[in-house]
Amino acid sequence: DVTLKQAAENNFLVGVAVSAARTQIAAYDEVYKREFNSITAENDMKMASVFTGIDGSGNIIYDWSKVDALINYAETNGMNVHGHTLIWHRSVPEALENFAGTDQEFEDLIGQYINAVLTRYKGKINSWDVVNEAIDDDPAVQWRNTLFLQRMGENYVQKCFEFARAADPDVKLFYNDYNMTFDATKRGKVLMMVDNLKANNLIDGVGYQMHIDYNFPSRQEIQDATDELVAKDVLIHFAELDVKVNAVDDLTEFTAERSMAQAARVAEIVEIFNAIPQAQKYAITLWGLKDDDTWLIPENNGRPEWPLLFDASFEKKEAYFSFIKVL
Ligand code: XIL
Repeated sequence: DVTLKQAAENNFLVGVAVSAARTQIAAYDEVYKREFNSITAENDMKMASVFTGIDGSGNIIYDWSKVDALINYAETNGMNVHGHTLIWHRSVPEALENFAGTDQEFEDLIGQYINAVLTRYKGKINSWDVVNEAIDDDPAVQWRNTLFLQRMGENYVQKCFEFARAADPDVKLFYNDYNMTFDATKRGKVLMMVDNLKANNLIDGVGYQMHIDYNFPSRQEIQDATDELVAKDVLIHFAELDVKVNAVDDLTEFTAERSMAQAARVAEIVEIFNAIPQAQKYAITLWGLKDDDTWLIPENNGRPEWPLLFDASFEKKEAYFSFIKVL
């Protein structure tokens, strides 16, 4: 049988969100290797996981263990690594939250962090989400109010991209954000920022987080949002793909009807991505392997979901087959 990565071979990468721990579990390991040629750490490469403190001399204390494990895993299995994410307001180390130094010292720590990560993994991590979700959802507000904005000012996104470019001129630098396929106002703000970064040769790609519903947004909206990004002449990542089927109905089980609808949606996503000019296609990344691993658990999401390509028993779903069939 043709696998996901085989179906997309010589065309684009097919990625999956993983954890270092799951790569050590045989059943996951087998499917990761069989189906995917790119990995993204769901959490293990976020700042709060890597930046564990500040020592008495003001230097950052790092825990590289999970990142190293994932890099070794990818190297052993010939997989691409997309780094996620250097700067995100929802993964701020306590030592930074509580940092009592000056704003300049804060900024120096950010520069030190980005430099350390990119230097250590030079040639091993192909691309990074440098900043994740920096643009505000409120149409009237450009920058989300984060610790980074407060400490480093409105230039902070550009500064982080500058730190990254200086640390490793070869690694591909991405900006990543959500609601990009249907919130045209937010997308406009993001794409304006991308124009500015691009004018300074600071950005290579953009990730549209694909946390979508089986019936929303419309295919046309997703196509239009993709066309706008194509016009920016950047690499395109359909990142964090998962397809909700239960946003309004309070289903307690995954129905055959919803399974088919989800499969049709995945086919649309793959078709839209596949029609991007070849040189701009980077990857489609699934935000998890199987339905019971999703971050969209009732505690976060209010209701159960079955948003991925494999069921809880590692069985291929209809959405898996439709991904392959349209390629
Ligand atoms: C999520 C992970 O899936 C969860 O396990 C974690 O508790 C929180 O972060 N946007 C992103 C991802 O860019 O990093 C988030 O991942 C989901 C939303």
